[in-house]
This record gives sequence, structure tokens and C-alpha cells, in this order.
Amino acid sequence: MTVDINSRYGLNPAHSEVVEACKIIAPCDALDMGCSNGRNALYLGQLGFNISAIDANPSAIDMLKTICHEQGIANIQPQVYDINTANLNEDYGFISCTVTLMFIEPSCVADVITDMQKRTLAGGYNLIVCAMNTASHPCPVPFPFTLKESQLSEAYQGWELIKYNEDVGTMHNGAQLQFATMLARKPE
Ligand SMILES: C[S@@+](CC[C@H](N)C(=O)[O-])C[C@H]1O[C@@H](n2cnc3c(N)ncnc32)[C@H](O)[C@@H]1O
Repeated sequence: MTVDINSRYGLNPAHSEVVEACKIIAPCDALDMGCSNGRNALYLGQLGFNISAIDANPSAIDMLKTICHEQGIANIQPQVYDINTANLNEDYGFISCTVTLMFIEPSCVADVITDMQKRTLAGGYNLIVCAMNTASHPCPVPFPFTLKESQLSEAYQGWELIKYNEDVGTMHNGAQLQFATMLARKPE
């Protein structure tokens, strides 16, 4: 089971929004953007997705490669990739980008989102979870990038917003901030 592999390697369980998204997305070619050590990719892999798992951190990618090798996992392809380049070269049925966008160079974010949208197959899905900085809840963490109110939903005009919220969450230290959470489906 998923939890067993993740816990065996000291990884957290998959992000709850990835778990939720997979209740409606059938296994397909998927991209995990900012995969880190692979907690989400390993979950998707066990559900039968064929995953490209990309991250700028070579150590994280090496660890995921080691896990895949040791566990005989063939449907995850870990790769060092700088998301700032906004230059994906394959098309996917599902692109997941959980708590990664806020580490992207702000001047690159619009191009990164446009590239994700371009590289999503018709009828395919984008999942984004990203910190926000708003007047009511100034972001207490100095992330390089944060979303403004409605910025993400406006970037996905024309897509079906299956899930969209800008809810307030509480961090481990009690600080509050808003996160935009979006599962969007590209028109057929
Ligand atoms: C907070 S972690 C999120 C990991 C994973 N998505 C999850 O839900 O657990 C952010 C990840 O983004 C990666 N990252 C930051 N900037 C990046 C970039 N320019 N290109 C690729 N990955 C990047 C970091 O190395 C890190 O693994």
C-alpha cells in the first residue's frame, strides 16, 4: 500500500488534495511538478499513473530514483528540471503542482502556468495548491511568490473549476495564511 512505501522511506503521506483528485482522475500520463522525494509520485504510481516526477533538487531526485530502483517501480521517471524554464516537452492527462509554485521565480510564474495549460491534454487536469498574500491575511512566510485574490481562477478562465477555494489555514507555529487550492479540467 502507498502508506507503507512512504513511511518505509520516512516520507509523509501524499498531499490530501492529490488523494482527493485521484478519486475522479483515471490513471494516465501525469506530471508531478516539484516532486521532492516523491511522496505524491509514489502514491500516483501505485494507483497506476505513469509519472514524470520533476524537481530542481538533485538530492531529492536521487532519493526518488533509489526508492524506485529498490521497490522495482517502473512507472515513475524522476528527473532534475528547473520549473522556471517553463519548457515542458510532453503532454499529460494530469499535472500536479502542490505547494511548489510559491518557490518559483515570480517573473516566471505566468509562463509556467501557460506552459502547464499548453501541455495538458484536452479533458485533462491541473491541480495547484499555492500560498497567498492578501490584505486580510498577509503571508507570514517570505516565499518568493504568492498568489493574489482570484489570481489563479482568473488564469484558468475557460477551464472547468472542479474545486476552487482560497481558504485560510493554520501553520505549525499557529500563523495563519490563505492557500489557493484548485483542481481544473481543460475543455475537450
Ligand atoms: C514544499 S516542496 C513540495 C513538494 C511536493 N510537491 C509536495 O506536495 O510534497 C517544494 C518543492 O519544489 C521544488 N522546487 C523549488 N523550486 C523549483 C524549481 N525552480 N524547479 C523545480 N523544482 C523546484 C523544491 O526543490 C521542493 O522539492
